[in-house]
Amino acid sequence: MSKIQIEGGHKLTGTINISGAKNSAVALIPSAILCDEQTTITNVPNISDVDSLEEILKYLNVSIKRDNDNVTIDCSKMENKSIPNELSQKLRASYYFMGALLAKFHKVDMHFPGGCSIGKRPIDLHLKGFEKLGAKVEEKDDHITISANELKGNKIYLDIPSVGATINIMIAAVKATGTTIIENAAQEPEIVNVAMYLNNMGAQITGAGSNSIKIIGVKKLTKAIHEVIPDRIEAGTYLIIASLLGENLKINKIIISHLEPLISKLQEAGVKMDIKDDYIIVNKVEKYKAINIKTLVYPGFPTDLQQPMIPFLTQCRGISKVEETIWENRFQNIPDTIKMGADIKVENNRIAYIKGITPLTGKEVKATDLRGGASMLICGLIAKGNTTISNINYILRGYDKIVEKLQQVGAKIELID
Ligand code: EPZ
Repeated sequence: MSKIQIEGGHKLTGTINISGAKNSAVALIPSAILCDEQTTITNVPNISDVDSLEEILKYLNVSIKRDNDNVTIDCSKMENKSIPNELSQKLRASYYFMGALLAKFHKVDMHFPGGCSIGKRPIDLHLKGFEKLGAKVEEKDDHITISANELKGNKIYLDIPSVGATINIMIAAVKATGTTIIENAAQEPEIVNVAMYLNNMGAQITGAGSNSIKIIGVKKLTKAIHEVIPDRIEAGTYLIIASLLGENLKINKIIISHLEPLISKLQEAGVKMDIKDDYIIVNKVEKYKAINIKTLVYPGFPTDLQQPMIPFLTQCRGISKVEETIWENRFQNIPDTIKMGADIKVENNRIAYIKGITPLTGKEVKATDLRGGASMLICGLIAKGNTTISNINYILRGYDKIVEKLQQVGAKIELID
């Protein structure tokens, strides 16, 4: 199946259950190799990024069993081998194997990670962090070897509060000798989820979720069972869809506090939400007004919901302004959105002005990246007529059973060849 076809304009009603967070699961699974015994991670989303990580673990002779959304990992027979390009290129988060293999074997040999085309996506802060812990980093073309006789705790200041660098350095430091402090650390909820998993195994991490994280090195990490937190970006994507087409549409199994920035912006536009402890019910109303959005690191408005918000803003009366401050190329979904009838102007690829209300018409469009693909899917759901989306592997990387979840609440959407 390589395309999604949607007949737009159908009201959506019922319940959508949110899966575990992709950006947590893709860090938890590599971290599992630090455990010297068998370990289980529950509520793992069924997405192709997890399949790619499973391939890398099997390549390293790690036993991994997936039973629905439970993943059991045993690395007692693990081999530390060079991770080939075709595996590490499959997803950005393969870089977490750098921190994990460095902590476990003091030796890493792999290629640069892959990922979407939303920006250059350097990993200099990760590598600088490993060097501060005493590792030697050698890069040749897109091949990296990282090695250390001993990893020693140190104070590491991140120039940018990078999610990946924060998690990767935290993983690398858990078995280092002495104490590591990460200053100007990222504060995303996924970082807390990983820190709690490592602490469940016996690590000594405090401060995760703040801008300063302390890791006191330990010798051994023992078995642990840990749950992936709900995916705030998947939940936000469905909240946006509910704001446009919901009739008593319930977005279920969520952590409200992780969605504050989006909830407040949707309410500012006029969306009515019935917010309970772990779900939200939305009924679409007729008039939404234009708003301004600026993406920031957590707890600011998440960059990963910027693209899904664009279709919503085409239905808001007035001119909305969207400023993307994290990634340099995260407006790739705009041309196809304009092709469907939107009125959008982009300034130096960092600011977009969306003039609403513009009706959208179904067209042949493509997913340019994961969240851009989600954005086109939302356009298709509200457009008049049929929309066909190609390159949908991007979407299936990060949204667990998105077609089935939408079909169950009344969307006319299907996978086609
Ligand atoms: C994570 O990417 C997420 N991916 C991204 O989600 C998300 O957009 C991003 O965090 C920001 O929230 C995963 O968790 C797998 P960063 P990451 O390091 O860790 C610069 C999605 O849609 N930077 O926080 O790669 C970087 O260029 C994906 O699910 C450096 O300069 O993001 C960017 O401008 C897309 N050097 C900024 O920092 C580095 O060494 C933030 O990047 C690292 C990052």
